[in-house]
Amino acid sequence: MSRILQISDPHIVIPPQKVSNKLETLHLFEQMIDQILGDMEKISPVDAVIITGDIADTGDIQSYQAFKRQIERLGIPYFVIPGNHDLRAPMRQCFQNLDSMPGSGKINWVHDLQDIRIIGLDSLIEGQGGGLFDEDSASYLNAALTGAGQKPVLLAIHHPPIKSGIWFMDEIGLEGCELLAETLGQFTNEIRVISGHLHAGIVGTINGNVVVVGPSTCSAFALDYRPDAPVGFMTGPRGYAVHDWDNGFCSDYNYIAGANGPHGF
Ligand SMILES: [Fe+2]
Repeated sequence: MSRILQISDPHIVIPPQKVSNKLETLHLFEQMIDQILGDMEKISPVDAVIITGDIADTGDIQSYQAFKRQIERLGIPYFVIPGNHDLRAPMRQCFQNLDSMPGSGKINWVHDLQDIRIIGLDSLIEGQGGGLFDEDSASYLNAALTGAGQKPVLLAIHHPPIKSGIWFMDEIGLEGCELLAETLGQFTNEIRVISGHLHAGIVGTINGNVVVVGPSTCSAFALDYRPDAPVGFMTGPRGYAVHDWDNGFCSDYNYIAGANGPHGF
């Protein structure tokens, strides 16, 4: 059995900055770490924590360092992939102590737990909202899935390879979904994809593989399918996700209650 916590989209800024002049994201993240520490007696043992991108809101090193001080309070091995708000150079500088952090290029990695393989994929196009799964990503993923043998795989990528119906987020979705679908289609392992970006608990599929989008630690995008849905965010629900492997995947959302909005970006 393996248990992985997914923490997503903390969008850290250093006080007194606030995201969208509203969200004290470092404080909200500290609160989430407190919540997880309080939950540990109920959810232990946890094998790994994966942070699925948008760690720092503007990609500054101070925000990564503040994030790192908090995440290390958990005392659990952790793994990071970038989101569209991140920048590779400061991320690499801050997390160079992690064995999973490559020395150059995209922040892709593989880590084997006893019974599953976890794979991190970098979908960042620096300076853009949308993400990309290109031929380089496909060859990395192909090798990583080949190396997994018949082990189940948890595949983390910031931009989810699904349409959410939240129009302003779908406009900055993942380019290359067909190539990703084709790559996954060459393997028979059980593969669960986990993503962030949508600041909401949303479930979909890609080529028959389940995609689970985790909530953000700082804000939420409302379920509003109208083509003129207001662009903005809610203050919650905020939370984290738990992904278990025990002869099958089981994914749970654990929320902190209390929310209002929508608030304009
Ligand atoms: Fe985000």
